[in-house]
Amino acid sequence: MRKDKRVKYRTPKGVQDILPPEVSVWQKIENVARRVFSVYGYQEIRPPIIEFTELFVRGIGEETDIVEKEMYTFQDRAGRSITLRPEGTASVVRAYIQHHLYNLPSPQRFYYMGPMFRYERPQKGRYRQFHQIGVECFGEDTPRVDAELMHMLFRYLEAIGLRDLSFEINSIGCRQCRPRYREKLLQFLSSKREQLCTDCLRRYSRNPLRVLDCKVPECIEATKGAPAVTEYLCANCQEHFGSLKRYLEQLGLTFRVNPRMVRGLDYYTRTTFEVLSSELGAQNAVAAGGRYDDLVEEFGGPPTPAIGFAVGVERLATLIMERADTEGPRLFGYFATLGERATEEAMGLASRLRDRGLWVEMNYRPEASLKSQLRKANRMKAMYVFILGEEEIQKGVIRYKRMDDGFQSEVKLSDFVAFITGSMVQES
Ligand code: HAM
Repeated sequence: MRKDKRVKYRTPKGVQDILPPEVSVWQKIENVARRVFSVYGYQEIRPPIIEFTELFVRGIGEETDIVEKEMYTFQDRAGRSITLRPEGTASVVRAYIQHHLYNLPSPQRFYYMGPMFRYERPQKGRYRQFHQIGVECFGEDTPRVDAELMHMLFRYLEAIGLRDLSFEINSIGCRQCRPRYREKLLQFLSSKREQLCTDCLRRYSRNPLRVLDCKVPECIEATKGAPAVTEYLCANCQEHFGSLKRYLEQLGLTFRVNPRMVRGLDYYTRTTFEVLSSELGAQNAVAAGGRYDDLVEEFGGPPTPAIGFAVGVERLATLIMERADTEGPRLFGYFATLGERATEEAMGLASRLRDRGLWVEMNYRPEASLKSQLRKANRMKAMYVFILGEEEIQKGVIRYKRMDDGFQSEVKLSDFVAFITGSMVQES
């Protein structure tokens, strides 16, 4: 594509503007989230976009891709290391501890929405500034909460019009049982080292579970037949996972156990899950999350089990736009005016209609021709045009035209607002 030379400034790579009418899809995604999450007891929390770098290094894990190569980190003027948040969980945990929210009755549940930043290689569905809507629930370790949270996510996705998504779940164990699995996996991988990519060779000794998540075909091949984490769970984790599956079935949520699903963040314990869409190509996860029962304590808070997830707003918006009509709100009326007096009158009428919640626009140039104004109203897809000139003012009337079928009539100026907000609004 040839670049327009007149455009002097562009967004950085992997960063985008969200323009109308697509923004109305985003508003829907956000509004439905507020509505659905609030009836499950989630309240909004707005953590800052910058945090001390250490928070993410400790929270997400030093040996993760995010921390190793994807963070936007800089020094502020006082020489402190600051990072643009690559995700929301670490910040919410920090806020939970900093403000002693653990003193409130549990569970404490929060949701947040906003931009996240990761220096990834941009491609369809993967951006450097992207948006998440996330939830975090603190203080309960029962798998009932896991099931309820996943069911809420399902309900939410359904409410914004998405179906045919698959839920994959896994349990990656806890501090007690994971080391044993790690050992088994290392044993298995030791004979496959030649087949692994350079990234996986590095991961092999430091974070071997990540090898299972590698997308390089040779690594996928090499790890076929790797021991499944679910077979090495301790009795407590096994029971937790078993109950979770039962509760999900009781709630009617269809899922698949994927023992190879290891998430890209190190804080997870036990339950992990992802929601996938077959319509998105390589970046097919629309939502992901899991338990992180140790993180609050690791950050210096009291031992507090927790679980959460985040949805990727860009990916949801893509799916919704592929399905539905994405038209934004429609312009109700356009005041076409001729002459100074009519334009002045229209300003008052427009304001009264706006007070009643109607989107109306008006002509600001009294000298503009009626033809050009009608053309503009047409381009703006107005439902009605209200025509007011010197002649109408003299007669004390205003003409109106219904743009869909061309029907025209007039109404007394003194009755106009009542007429519009009565019969016409109901009709449209
Ligand atoms: P995550 O899997 O890193 O988890 O991200 C969650 C979702 O954010 C992904 O499934 C995807 O839809 C979206 N996403 C991630 N990276 C990008 C990107 N570069 N471009 C577009 N979308 C992206 C977390 O962030 C965890 N904090 C989730 C969580 C909350 N776990 C517990 N609580």
